[in-house]
Amino acid sequence: MNLDAMFDHAAAGTAPIASISIRRPDDWHVHLRDGALLRAILPFTAAQFARGNIMPNLTPPVTTPAAAKAYRERILAARPAGSDFQPLMTCYLTDATMHDEIERGYAEGIWIAAKLYPAGATTNAHHGVTDIPALSPVLERMEKIGMPVLIHGESTDPEIDIFDREAVFMEQSLFPLLKRHPGLKVVIEHATMAETLDIVRAHSLRMAATITPHHLVINRTSIFQGGLQPHLYCLPVAKRERHRVALRKAATSGESCFFIGTDTAPHLRSRKEAECCAAGVFGGATALQTYVHVFDEEGALDHFEAFASLNGARFYGLAPNAGTLVLERRECRVMPTVPIDNDEVVVFRGGVTLPWSIGLVTVAD
Ligand code: NCD
Ligand code: ZN
Repeated sequence: MNLDAMFDHAAAGTAPIASISIRRPDDWHVHLRDGALLRAILPFTAAQFARGNIMPNLTPPVTTPAAAKAYRERILAARPAGSDFQPLMTCYLTDATMHDEIERGYAEGIWIAAKLYPAGATTNAHHGVTDIPALSPVLERMEKIGMPVLIHGESTDPEIDIFDREAVFMEQSLFPLLKRHPGLKVVIEHATMAETLDIVRAHSLRMAATITPHHLVINRTSIFQGGLQPHLYCLPVAKRERHRVALRKAATSGESCFFIGTDTAPHLRSRKEAECCAAGVFGGATALQTYVHVFDEEGALDHFEAFASLNGARFYGLAPNAGTLVLERRECRVMPTVPIDNDEVVVFRGGVTLPWSIGLVTVAD
């Protein structure tokens, strides 16, 4: 492990680590949007991560190799000068997805995974899959070629309590899917429940879960603390405190089936502070500062590099990034909002003093 720790010898005994150096990390779940929003928010992700798994829920969604290629080009063109950020593309599964086209995009290196949104489960998921068993030919092909499926794991049955939708999805949809496709690689995206983490652990030879920064620091009460907090509303919605505790345990455990996926999902303030608030938290600008603080609080800084930089790459069969990123226990304050045209995006934990900062980034070994 490339963990280079500096100790403050003045504080004898429990010498605090002042900084850690890790291989450059990856974000395995990021919404970069498009147009002016893409240009405004990409610099934050590019400053933190070397690669990102780009979510395909644009309007219209990214369903074809041509659309993924074009979107990748737009992301590359929007990078800040000097950035080497690499977008890794994903394909949006629909009822009409063809297995040959999925394979072609994968074989040609256009996308590395496909995203399964149950139809209507979240933002821009209305083109998603209405009948998961009917998707079997596509999933069979993905199983055969070793292409992972990334799952938004929530039931879309409006009768189901919103706080139970993840658990119900696992029972009703995930278990049968795992049975039908015993070799399929599966990522449960933005896991929010203790029981989900145990399911992933039990199948960790071929399963993994991403964990967001916000689900490590807020619980469902936070969304209502002092009044309704629209900027803390995302899907899957934050759950009870016991789940937050379980997520912190899993993320910081060093288990290889858990890795970063920020689910950074910016929406304009006018779409959040609206009669009907859009789901999504813009956590990309403070992600590493938040994650590393959690690892510090849990006494697990020695596991941070695995979670941030190694576990995900191994799951996807990719080499870890070259270069290093230093995180320092030094206070920082990230801007509270990012302006976009005549509107803005509110930054998760923006404007507040964070105990950890990003230090030097080197791009080569
Ligand atoms: C995401 C978005 O806004 O695109 N929203 C969210 O609440 N996480 C979609 C998603 O990942 O569910
Ligand atoms: Zn997402």
